[in-house]
Amino acid sequence: MAEDKAHPPDGTSGVTRRGLIKGIASAVTAASTGATALLVETRHELQAANLSGPMAVSVTVNGAVKAGSFEPRTTLAEALRDSWGMTGTKVGCDRGACGACTVLLDGLAVNSCLTLVHDADGRKVTTVEGLGSPEAMAPIQKAFVEADALQCGFCTPGMVVSCAGLLARNPRPSEHDVKEAVAGNLCRCGTYTGVFAACEAVAHAKSEVTRG
Ligand code: FES
Ligand code: FES
Repeated sequence: MAEDKAHPPDGTSGVTRRGLIKGIASAVTAASTGATALLVETRHELQAANLSGPMAVSVTVNGAVKAGSFEPRTTLAEALRDSWGMTGTKVGCDRGACGACTVLLDGLAVNSCLTLVHDADGRKVTTVEGLGSPEAMAPIQKAFVEADALQCGFCTPGMVVSCAGLLARNPRPSEHDVKEAVAGNLCRCGTYTGVFAACEAVAHAKSEVTRG
């Protein structure tokens, strides 16, 4: 009978530290080539492996240091929502397909359901809560409201975070740039034209300020 490498008969995890590191390295390579399936496979392998115990993590979330002790398989989305109470980040598919869980990791948009919290150790994370509040919305949040760029709102936190990340590195994006930035954010309600209009409004406002 073929041996099940994730669950060998002696009851050990069957995954060595070297194997884990190789898996993470593969996942990083996969991210750069867009091979989401491999990331999902690696995450599931980690979750099946039941490796050692919790380990300490410290992440700066929206400017405040958040610390905790997490098993290696814990995703950033799980840590944000379940341990740190930041439920603005939504989990839709939990496998890298919808973008509802998008956060900024050191300024770059990532799917937090595919990012292990240990990979965020010592880094900066921005969630939708870190952009603004209902009383003091960020320009892109205000623009979403004004452009009616949401319906059920489930995709909206991830969509807003992707747009905020784009506008931070490119204050005057073209519509093509916006489409690329939200390519991983799926909206079943079809609010895309509103999203493009919201980004355009923020970019236009920035141009006016520069000119003035
Ligand atoms: S919940 Fe992360 S991509 Fe869908
Ligand atoms: S507003 Fe409903 S999924 Fe986007």
